[in-house]
Amino acid sequence: MKKKITIIDNNSGKKFDFSVIKGSNGPSVVDLSNFYEKTGMFVYDPGFKSTASCHSAITFIDGEKGKLLHRGYSIEDLAKYSDYPEVCFLLLNGELPNKEQKKKFNDILTHHTMLHEQIQRFYSGFRRDSHPMAIMVGIVGALSSFYSEKTHDFSSIEGKWVAVSRLLAKMPTIAAIAYKYSLGQPFIYPNNNLNYSENFLHMLFSTPCGNFKPTKAQTDALDKLLILHADHEQNASTSTVKMAGSSGANPFACIAAGVASLWGPAHGGANESVIRMLYEIKNEKNIASFIKRAKDKNDPFRLMGFGHRVYKNYDPRASVIRKYCHNLLKELNPENFPLLKLATKLEDIALNDKYFIEKKLYPNVDFYSGIILKALGLPESMFTVIFAVSRTIGWISQWKEMTDDINKTQISRPRQLYIGEKKRVFKKISERSMRKNKQMFPNEIS
Ligand code: SDX
Repeated sequence: MKKKITIIDNNSGKKFDFSVIKGSNGPSVVDLSNFYEKTGMFVYDPGFKSTASCHSAITFIDGEKGKLLHRGYSIEDLAKYSDYPEVCFLLLNGELPNKEQKKKFNDILTHHTMLHEQIQRFYSGFRRDSHPMAIMVGIVGALSSFYSEKTHDFSSIEGKWVAVSRLLAKMPTIAAIAYKYSLGQPFIYPNNNLNYSENFLHMLFSTPCGNFKPTKAQTDALDKLLILHADHEQNASTSTVKMAGSSGANPFACIAAGVASLWGPAHGGANESVIRMLYEIKNEKNIASFIKRAKDKNDPFRLMGFGHRVYKNYDPRASVIRKYCHNLLKELNPENFPLLKLATKLEDIALNDKYFIEKKLYPNVDFYSGIILKALGLPESMFTVIFAVSRTIGWISQWKEMTDDINKTQISRPRQLYIGEKKRVFKKISERSMRKNKQMFPNEIS
């Protein structure tokens, strides 16, 4: 028998039945898609703390236990045994590739890493001191004019593959050029003899005067970071991509919207904020005062890299990154990185503090990632860019899963609780009172 729940309206005494749908893992859902039709009321859930926006088979998160699975494989196993291109294949296709599939997939990505020469001109339009994420939003969005509906049908499997393959292949190139542009250095072309992470490091750090040859530890560290940030269910930026995609927008433009959403300090921008916070804390003596500020409701300061909407336990990705931090810094002389020692001390104090324990605030993926990126030689401004490169596979896989779903015909269009003025009669300007309206403009309006 189909499971259901009954909601009783205590005012009218009316009863409304709604079916319960069980997934393969995790909480069931109550199907409220006809709630308004049945009750004449909307369901209210700002921030979507209790809302499942879709069904998906790609990623499963158990927030209470701190577990993360991609197509059923644990993030710990994928970080330990796999590599980023292989995880991309898994997220897209639902299975790990066999030897032949892996080679073909890698070859396709390798042969699409170059950007159209004209795209390079877009960079020169940006101020030299632009945040690289501003450049990423602009360049990724501009790709929609090079891969447009004039030449591609993005509702077809062929058109979707063009979007998937070009985005995965070109994001490292776009990111590396944004970095080189900020340095005033010449752009470095991709090298087809290198694997995904080696090539990314090559484009970031080589110059025409000499090629950068990353060590295995450096390549491994980047590859693991790319795996660990690849996808994370219906987070803010993925939901942004899917919201844009639900109107049938160009997939490159949808990914640009995802880049914009990820940039926020509450989301992917947190890795940059963590490092800036550690620099501000400076040394262990100051930790207590920052923890005090984080707990003070009147202080907007939050402990960056701590807390998560879903994880009420240690973010499994943070555990893996923490381990790689130590491995990488062993090679790169940990004494050069007091940040890691400070971060470890800060974590230790926070995890034993009543406020953080009660509110179940643990380190998330952003807490340690910046330390590895710093150890790789990148500035804080590039941290969220690396996150965006990695999350491109999550965004485009979730976009493809949504657009492949033939029942997915509706545009995503939430409603609201209206709290504004009721209907009013229009007043001529001569009839409008001169009483001081609430402040409409900042004092110095220009
Ligand atoms: C990512 O969704 C995803 O999956 C995202 C992500 C992904 O892979 O896509 O995992 C990547 O975005 C990780 C999160 C990175 N952001 C940060 O590290 C920024 C710092 N963290 C917070 O701003 C916060 O924890 C959020 C935004 C991550 C989650 O916020 P929620 O779920 O809306 O929780 P909340 O703001 O309602 O906080 C609950 C309580 C509040 O106190 P009360 O109002 O109940 O008294 O916990 C407090 C908050 O004040 N709190 C913190 C805190 N985070 C929450 N207090 C101090 N420091 C913090 N970091």
